[in-house]
Amino acid sequence: MNEARPPLELTIPVRAWDFLAGGDGAARVRQVLQQVGFPPAVIRRVAIATYEAEMNIVIHSQGGELKAQITPAVITIIARDTGPGIPDIDLAMQEGYSTAPREIQEMGFGAGMGLPNIRRCADELAIDSMPGKGTVIKIVIYNR
Ligand SMILES: Nc1ncnc2c1ncn2[C@@H]1O[C@H](COP(=O)(O)OP(=O)(O)OP(=O)(O)O)[C@@H](O)[C@H]1O
Ligand SMILES: [Mg+2]
Repeated sequence: MNEARPPLELTIPVRAWDFLAGGDGAARVRQVLQQVGFPPAVIRRVAIATYEAEMNIVIHSQGGELKAQITPAVITIIARDTGPGIPDIDLAMQEGYSTAPREIQEMGFGAGMGLPNIRRCADELAIDSMPGKGTVIKIVIYNR
């Protein structure tokens, strides 16, 4: 990839409660990173963080989208949804904290590990949430 080129950009819609398509966005981002030739360890961190952000939109939100901006040096993922927002971000970031209902837990989600996993994978993480308006999660991962 040539440093002077504009960033590769992907925008992927994510539907609430669509467990059939849930995860396809992260898979698509991984596929593009593989095609462009990023190191497996970098791809792995991006794929995990993107998957967790995507599934949080599926499970906890009314729907939204993923945006991936890819340059040779840095990969930025922005996960945006239209609500209901996260009332207490510090609490939501704690390992094991989950508001997932029982039927979701029976599907294997709701361990409360998604956001902590994103933090582990990300070089930079910013979460911006407004009750009623939605949540924006920005994940930055360096290619190094
Ligand atoms: N996009 C979102 N919109 C609203 N609430 C969210 C969103 N993402 C996370 N949350 C809240 O933060 C909590 C913790 O999220 P986290 O991803 O760590 O765990 P989880 O999704 O409940 O379980 P797991 O990710 O392990 O399947 C969620 O249970 C939910 O209450
Ligand atoms: Mg989660």
